Amino acid sequence: MLIKTPLHMKILVTGGAGFIGSHTVVELFKAGYESVILDNFSNSEKAVLDGLKEIIGQETPYYEADINDPAAWDKVFTENKIDGIIHFAANKAVGESVQNPLKYYRNNVAATVLMIEKMQEYGVSNLVFSSSCTVYGEPDSLPVTEQSPIKPANSPYGNTKQICEEIIKDTVATQKGLRAISLRYFNPIGAHETVLIGELPIGVPANLVPFITQTVAGLRGQLSVFGDDYPTRDGTAVRDYIHVVDLAKAHVSALALLIKQGDAPAYYDIFNIGTGTGSSVLEVITAFEKATGLKVDYAIKPRRAGDVTAVYADCTKSNEVLGWKTEKTLEDALGDAWRWQEKVAKR
Ligand code: UD1
Repeated sequence: MLIKTPLHMKILVTGGAGFIGSHTVVELFKAGYESVILDNFSNSEKAVLDGLKEIIGQETPYYEADINDPAAWDKVFTENKIDGIIHFAANKAVGESVQNPLKYYRNNVAATVLMIEKMQEYGVSNLVFSSSCTVYGEPDSLPVTEQSPIKPANSPYGNTKQICEEIIKDTVATQKGLRAISLRYFNPIGAHETVLIGELPIGVPANLVPFITQTVAGLRGQLSVFGDDYPTRDGTAVRDYIHVVDLAKAHVSALALLIKQGDAPAYYDIFNIGTGTGSSVLEVITAFEKATGLKVDYAIKPRRAGDVTAVYADCTKSNEVLGWKTEKTLEDALGDAWRWQEKVAKR
């Protein structure tokens, strides 16, 4: 049997022009894999491809197409021998998912079903799926492990992540030759250290760190800190903020583990990908000020509907089984996020 080395392996990265996807393309390249991007650029810019080219020194082939389009999958799989898929392409705005649930069920769930059917049709075996810590809801105890109970989703977005995990698990159990890993991300922040790629939120950012950087850059008014009456150290909500490059590297480790399974009849597993440390909103603001020497103008406002009090990861399993661990600090991530913001503001 010919054993392929990463050098000969081609990985399809859906949503590869997006925030986490683009950083993962860089890490795949560094690990010796070839990437092909499938993206409809609905929430990303073509300029990301230029940033990628500058970082890795070569073009990454891409298909501008919709993951709901069966013909797009046929074209990609006919024109490339794909060894594995990292599936990022999805919508992720919690509020929008409440307003327009069908968009989320179509783009996140139906497209994932189509993708797996096409993997089956073309004999593609390895899948890394982007899941989220949102599946833990408001946890009963912290930190959360992969065994912590799944809570009823509080948004269609959260529900799509739970449903997709189930779909993948059920399919692996019956479909010979499909191997898959779901990575449950905590809160990805930061940008590549070259600041050639980073997060590009469209419109007013819903997430904390892009809102902070845009406020400090003068693009937004005061930052609202949503709630200071949570039962936490300082009353503000706690999350596990992970540098996007550390998160990207977890995908390369997951892929390597899948490939190591060889022709194992079935393989499915789930990993938490966080830092293991919870930070409150006020702690993030303080860390940002320390990392950049800049002041964040903020005011305490009422809680935001749907927010949980605290969630952070136990990463023992990903440390031990994936052989992966974070290398960057919260301040590294916030410093990179700010340098990226400064660069974007100048464009
Ligand atoms: C949310 C989703 C998560 C999803 C992620 C990506 C939930 C529970 N979590 O993460 O599944 O993957 O978005 O979009 O639905 N905050 C402020 N002011 C702001 C913005 C945020 O105080 O202007 C606070 C929030 O109240 C929260 C923390 O900052 O406590 C982090 O918020 P955010 O960055 O939006 O991420 P999550 O809500 O944790």
